Amino acid sequence: MSSVVLIGAQWGDEGKGKITDFLAEKADAVVRYQGGNNAGHTVVVGDEEFKLHLIPSGILYPDTICVIGNGVVVDPQVLLEELEYLKARNIDVSGLRISTNAHVIMPYHRLLDELEEERRGENKIGTTKRGIGPAYMDKAARSGIRIGDLLDPDELKQRLAAVLDQKNLLLERVYEARPLDIEDVLDKYLAYGEKIKEFIADTSHLINQIYDRGERVLFEGAQGTLLDLDHGTYPFVTSSNPIAGGACVGVGFGPTKIDKVLGVVKAYTTRVGEGPFPTELNDEVGDEIRRAGHEFGTTTGRPRRCGWFDMVMFNYAVQVSGISHVALTKLDVLDGVEKIKICTGYKYKGDKLESFPNSLKQLSLCEPVYEEHPGWMSSTSEVRSYEQLPDEAKRYIERIQELSKVKTAIIAVGPKREQTIVTESLF
Ligand code: IMP
Repeated sequence: MSSVVLIGAQWGDEGKGKITDFLAEKADAVVRYQGGNNAGHTVVVGDEEFKLHLIPSGILYPDTICVIGNGVVVDPQVLLEELEYLKARNIDVSGLRISTNAHVIMPYHRLLDELEEERRGENKIGTTKRGIGPAYMDKAARSGIRIGDLLDPDELKQRLAAVLDQKNLLLERVYEARPLDIEDVLDKYLAYGEKIKEFIADTSHLINQIYDRGERVLFEGAQGTLLDLDHGTYPFVTSSNPIAGGACVGVGFGPTKIDKVLGVVKAYTTRVGEGPFPTELNDEVGDEIRRAGHEFGTTTGRPRRCGWFDMVMFNYAVQVSGISHVALTKLDVLDGVEKIKICTGYKYKGDKLESFPNSLKQLSLCEPVYEEHPGWMSSTSEVRSYEQLPDEAKRYIERIQELSKVKTAIIAVGPKREQTIVTESLF
């Protein structure tokens, strides 16, 4: 009987897809608990590359149950496209289950996300424009449409009529955009319901049963700690809770049943979208990391901002999620970097801060304090055991471990399944 919550410990894009895929081999169920198709996971199997946005990457294993929990916001069109994409590549999708309580991303959510970003102008958040924020707004406002509603024409019509009146007012009067036609939306979404009904289930019950039977459950966080609505760099955050606690709410799974929390971190830091980033590198080292690490968004294609490993930030992630183990990814990206820095603290108005500041303004004024480590200047992508790693790479990993007091369980040295070094088994 065991469960692992896998979370991003930085600003998302930590390589969670690859680690999830690696652990999914041993898991009986893989569960997503928050976010939507703003996420993007790239998984490489043999010579094939799979890009997934919504469906848990465990789907690539035929016997794994893959769950989209109640905390996820689902765009049915994207879900159907992803199902077709997987089927066309001979992936068995019969193990997918979607919570009846998950909220649906509606066409007005996508429109409003885009229009509101335009309206914000220079103060934009840099959202993925997938309708994520507006869908969560409606959930909190109790005017959302849930997956289960798509199976009930009367209920859907009634709910939609009330919501669409208000959305059309907003679209027309505030944003000067065209209103949406209720019949069009209704027909489209009822058709989506028909197509996905075989996957809809009570997923809290399902996952608790699987766990109670003594099987292994992997919870797959999307985005990352610093994008958490409550604990991230607000307002430059997403609208859900990627931290480990989000798994309890987003699935209906009690905290006493969570056995391990795996924090996934890159050997350096990246960020997409706006907001402060203390260890950002606006120089050729940053460009080199972007190039070597292919740091362009899976979902939006945007170039990612790159910087050094930030220990203050990582220790904050350890604090808010109770991280018990680390998966260090993309170590190989640093193979050609001569001198590697770790940020061990921030300087704010002359004083050294040991903990992550709550205020965004304060964070934007923080200067990183670095320690420098010699690079290993040799390829690690063929290394398959910890002992074979160059001494400098081992020292870098050990230093991160020492400063965080968290054990390293996995080290990734490339995108392929086999480019993974295990130092501690989680399942
Ligand atoms: P939203 O989630 O589309 O509302 O975007 C809010 C913020 O979260 C923006 O800064 C996005 O770039 C960021 N974001 C959302 N999803 C991801 C992700 O999967 N990786 C990295 N950043 C993300």
